[in-house]
Amino acid sequence: MEDDYHKPVLLKEAVHYLNATEGDIIFEGTLGGAGHTIAIIKDIAPTGKIIGVDLCSQALSTAAIRLKDYKDQVFLVEDNFANVKEILKRLDIKSVQGVLLDLGLSSFQIDRSQKGFSYIRNEDLDMRFGDQKVRAFEVVNDYSEQKLRDIFYKFGEEKWAGPIAARIVKKRNEKEIRSTSQLAEIVKSAVPPDYRHKRGHPAKRIFQAIRIEVNAELENIEKGIEDGFQVLNGRGRMVIISYHSLEDRIVKNKFLDFAGRCFCPPDLPVCRCGAQKRAKILTRKVVRPSEDEIRENPRAKSAKLRALEKL
Ligand SMILES: C[S@@+](CC[C@H](N)C(=O)[O-])C[C@H]1O[C@@H](n2cnc3c(N)ncnc32)[C@H](O)[C@@H]1O
Repeated sequence: MEDDYHKPVLLKEAVHYLNATEGDIIFEGTLGGAGHTIAIIKDIAPTGKIIGVDLCSQALSTAAIRLKDYKDQVFLVEDNFANVKEILKRLDIKSVQGVLLDLGLSSFQIDRSQKGFSYIRNEDLDMRFGDQKVRAFEVVNDYSEQKLRDIFYKFGEEKWAGPIAARIVKKRNEKEIRSTSQLAEIVKSAVPPDYRHKRGHPAKRIFQAIRIEVNAELENIEKGIEDGFQVLNGRGRMVIISYHSLEDRIVKNKFLDFAGRCFCPPDLPVCRCGAQKRAKILTRKVVRPSEDEIRENPRAKSAKLRALEKL
């Protein structure tokens, strides 16, 4: 069962940029099915350690089975990668040589977790990576129309955000919206017929938006990158794989800040914004999967990898 849990994306590239060597300590904030972990362990063996973190208990159980031969080298932690500092403190680890984040969700979560991540399956509205309080159900049935519109616009980049939010509110006043199929139908019915085929099914963007809201994904990424950078050793590496433009924008901007991007007006003789070069960006051009990888694993298609080295 666990063999088709998730195909690791940009595996060779991630291992290459992480550049881990024997004895390194690596923080992997998105363990999933441990696809990347197993490859990295080989580079740091026999004395290195990986801290493998995931919010999803199923991911941790699968990873534990896959990593059973490496028990002395991995710490498996059920937590949010945004809590990287607290996690390391609990393990009495001061700093790490590498941070890897492979953002988003695993194939298992989409296809088999029954948490309602996909508009193609008929499941309950949940979408939580872990056991947070608010599910997709509460977002859809309790949030105000204005708040729904903002989320769809900001996190789904959906131009029909307003009409979709209005239709949801109208429908939920008639009857609670409980399932992914119900929601997908409502979304589809709120946009003009010719738009439904232009940018793919509109439910895709709305589901993405709700998932981002439920899991506070963008805040976690910001904090995970910021705090992950702080616990990185000098010459330590950070590698991040993102899957959509909102994620990648955060990664790109954070990396530019670490690399000393200056916000002062160009005519100012000295920098006053406090910019400081603290890292070297290793991927001047973002790294994308090859045609072969996309053919083998279509879910890799939107992946973008960025890497930096701390000075
Ligand atoms: C794309 S998958 C990782 C797959 C993994 N690299 C592999 O090759 O098997 C992303 C994983 O990150 C987890 N995740 C997402 N956001 C998280 C967060 N803020 N903290 C911890 N885990 C998170 C998800 O539950 C999911 O298991």
